[in-house]
Amino acid sequence: MSAKVISLYCCVPAAFLLLFAHLNNPTTSFLGALLDLATPSLPFDFLTVHYFSNYHRRRGAYNPLCDDFPPDFPPPDTAATSIFCVDPNGCCDFTTVQSAVDAVPRSSQKRNVVWINKGIYFEKVTVPATKPNITFQGQGFDLTAIMWNDTANSSHGTFYSASVSVFAAGFVAKNISFMNVAPIPRPGDVGAQAVALRIGGDQAAFWGCGFFGAQDTLHDDRGRHYFKECFIQGSIDFIFGDARSLYENCRLISIADPVPAGVRSITGSVTAHARESTQENTGYSFVNCSIGGTGWIWLGRAWRPYSRVVFAYTSMSEIIASDGWNDWNDPSRDQSVFYGEYKCTGGGANLAGRAPYALELSDVQALPYLNTSYVDGDLWLKPYCDSLISA
Ligand SMILES: *[C@@H]1O[C@H](CO)[C@@H](O)[C@H](O)[C@H]1NC(C)=O
Ligand SMILES: *[C@@H]1O[C@H](CO)[C@@H](O)[C@H](O)[C@H]1NC(C)=O
Ligand SMILES: *[C@@H]1O[C@H](CO)[C@@H](O)[C@H](O)[C@H]1NC(C)=O
Ligand SMILES: *[C@@H]1O[C@H](CO)[C@@H](O)[C@H](O)[C@H]1NC(C)=O
Ligand SMILES: *[C@@H]1O[C@H](CO)[C@@H](O)[C@H](O)[C@H]1NC(C)=O
Ligand SMILES: *[C@@H]1O[C@H](CO)[C@@H](O)[C@H](O)[C@H]1NC(C)=O
Repeated sequence: MSAKVISLYCCVPAAFLLLFAHLNNPTTSFLGALLDLATPSLPFDFLTVHYFSNYHRRRGAYNPLCDDFPPDFPPPDTAATSIFCVDPNGCCDFTTVQSAVDAVPRSSQKRNVVWINKGIYFEKVTVPATKPNITFQGQGFDLTAIMWNDTANSSHGTFYSASVSVFAAGFVAKNISFMNVAPIPRPGDVGAQAVALRIGGDQAAFWGCGFFGAQDTLHDDRGRHYFKECFIQGSIDFIFGDARSLYENCRLISIADPVPAGVRSITGSVTAHARESTQENTGYSFVNCSIGGTGWIWLGRAWRPYSRVVFAYTSMSEIIASDGWNDWNDPSRDQSVFYGEYKCTGGGANLAGRAPYALELSDVQALPYLNTSYVDGDLWLKPYCDSLISA
């Protein structure tokens, strides 16, 4: 996606430098330090570290790095579940996430849990469409992360730049972060967009996950998706695509370039939804989320003419531009977009200066967007909630 209608000044990727300083010590809470730079206040306890009981040694030879590995893990397969265990130190069967995904049988009707121990996995991962029903179970989004650093340029297009790409149905991720650590785009940069996660499979759910990038962080591409208690960092169009998704209790943190007091230049946008026509039942709904961070940003801009986004019960800091929304510099889209706000709070939620096509939703208009029915959750979400595994 192009940055051309938004001017960028500067942004020192200090957070990422700091992050890399932690690469050699993956058992510390690397994200705690990272997030302190990006966010004034944090909802979660980033410094929590989970220790497993000791005494367990894997695979014969003594490996001191495995001393804190959970005993008797992974448990044997059952008729309903298989567990593929990933540990960077070789304490169980796989040392990379991709090798575990490769080992999952095609078209499996079981839930295949890729259990990923704490650590940073510097690899590009693909879950192909032939492998439905995979869960990535991390140990906390501040402790387990998959990261890579492709850009639109280095990967022949934004769509291929994702650190993790999921094309399969029934994908679930819990307590894990997806990061793209390519350099933050500079003013006038072309091709520097860098996606952390692309989710293109239907019926996907994310609980307690982190998404870290700058421009185009989360490619919420297509299908029905549910995000709960996630942390999403970005700058320009940081959630974009043509999915139908519900985001509940999520933190949206902008790292868009700060603007001096009184200056009113746009430096980012939370969303760029890409609904093409009235035939598509797609849109993004944010319920009980919060928006903070830096910049002077829109809630959304109309990547495609029928772009549809709703924010409900969401607290918005002063970084939200007073006009709120943008038609991608195409006034014909003013008639076709659906941009709604409902019972939002905070300095950025003042509707007085909004673009004329922005809607303050009535109770009746808001209702379809407020719970998991928006993504047909009754058809598929419940079993995912029930099949939590943790260790
Ligand atoms: C596995 O995927 C198939 C096809 O998407 C689906 O019908 C089935 O319910 C899934 N099974 C589980 C355990 O998620
Ligand atoms: C995620 O981690 C938190 C604390 O680290 C834990 O309380 C919660 O049960 C975990 N949830 C899942 C779905 O793994
Ligand atoms: C990704 O990081 C590696 C290692 O630092 C570097 O060699 C490569 O050029 C980077 N790729 C991009 C696209 O920045
Ligand atoms: C991307 O590629 C184009 C064309 O080769 C080049 O002009 C541009 O500087 C590159 N962008 C970055 C961020 O490297
Ligand atoms: C709203 O989100 C906050 C922060 O995540 C959470 O503590 C609270 O329980 C949520 N409220 C509802 C009604 O879900
Ligand atoms: C969601 O809200 C709709 C409209 O109020 C209601 O009919 C439906 O039962 C609710 N679904 C859930 C899962 O709570």
